[in-house]
Amino acid sequence: TNDIFILAIESSCDETSASVIADGKVLNNIVATQSVHEKYGGVVPELASRAHQENLIPVVQEAILTAGISKSQLSAIAFTRGPGLMGSLLVGVSFAKAFAFSLDIPLIEVNHMNAHILAHFIEDPKPNFPFICLTVSGGHTQLVLVRDHLDMEVIGETQDDAVGEAFDKTAKLLGLPYPGGPLIDKYAKEGNPKAYKFPITRMPELNYSFSGIKTAVLYFLRDQLKENPKFIEENLADLCASVQYSLVEMLLIKLKAAVKEYGVKEVAIAGGVSANSGLRDTLTKLAVEKGWNLYIPKFEYCTDNAAMIAMAAHYKYLKGEFSSMDVTPLAKMKI
Ligand code: KG4
Ligand code: ZN
Repeated sequence: TNDIFILAIESSCDETSASVIADGKVLNNIVATQSVHEKYGGVVPELASRAHQENLIPVVQEAILTAGISKSQLSAIAFTRGPGLMGSLLVGVSFAKAFAFSLDIPLIEVNHMNAHILAHFIEDPKPNFPFICLTVSGGHTQLVLVRDHLDMEVIGETQDDAVGEAFDKTAKLLGLPYPGGPLIDKYAKEGNPKAYKFPITRMPELNYSFSGIKTAVLYFLRDQLKENPKFIEENLADLCASVQYSLVEMLLIKLKAAVKEYGVKEVAIAGGVSANSGLRDTLTKLAVEKGWNLYIPKFEYCTDNAAMIAMAAHYKYLKGEFSSMDVTPLAKMKI
């Protein structure tokens, strides 16, 4: 057949992933999650690079195999250029270059943040342009105005920690293992979100700040634990619900402001924190109340994955946007 097959590789943080896309249709999404970081309470860059080195070729082989094609049928190799951990990115970029070089096919660089948003185009329903996307992950918190697949503008972002980081750091203070975000979500379901009042930081314009909450939780817990050493275990659900309430409030205050400012009622969320049920439920209600069309991708496409990289590569391939063989990864990279 004449199908355009693109192999995409994602290695920006702690997931090693490969995906094959055929004429814009994602055929698979193979992800190897690195469990080695759990016991350290966060991603250890050195260990992440090593695990990518171990996992990458098996993951790529599985993607090609389950796509039912051979290497020689590939039309291009796509990879995450940034943003991300330098050592992790280097593994993916070096492999992608070598593979494209050996097959004598084009190389396509993809911006990871752009790709998180393009995850919305893997399956229906797809948002209509222009739309506003709130991208929330362990590394980023951004409000993006999306005019077209490859035409995006950051209209607001965090000035310090990402919201996922705030979830994980407060979870750590509560004695929960890494990554703590999903656990806060789980315990919050049984708790009262108004039990404790944690700060709602308001930054100028459409920007965010999430570093205040961990400090507030730290001091609050220190005082409470002096009175009652069992304070955390006795009130875990209420603590989780209250922290989650503040974080979700902060996210939604600026999202509402962005919708108002830009007059756009197509609203999407992306990134790992969009799995949070507090965020999903509150946002779903808000969308009904405000008459927004809300788009939430499947969980598999919210966390880091190569299918979203493949989707971005598809649009770049159509425009003939290829990279040269001397391309290097970027730890920081603008959308
Ligand atoms: O997008 P992602 O998989 O990786 C990055 O690019 O960072 O996001 C991971 C982040 C972690 O901080 C994790 O705790 C958070 O997403 N997360 C959640 C939930 N599921 C994942 N945070 C809150 N509630 C969840 N259900
Ligand atoms: Zn990500």
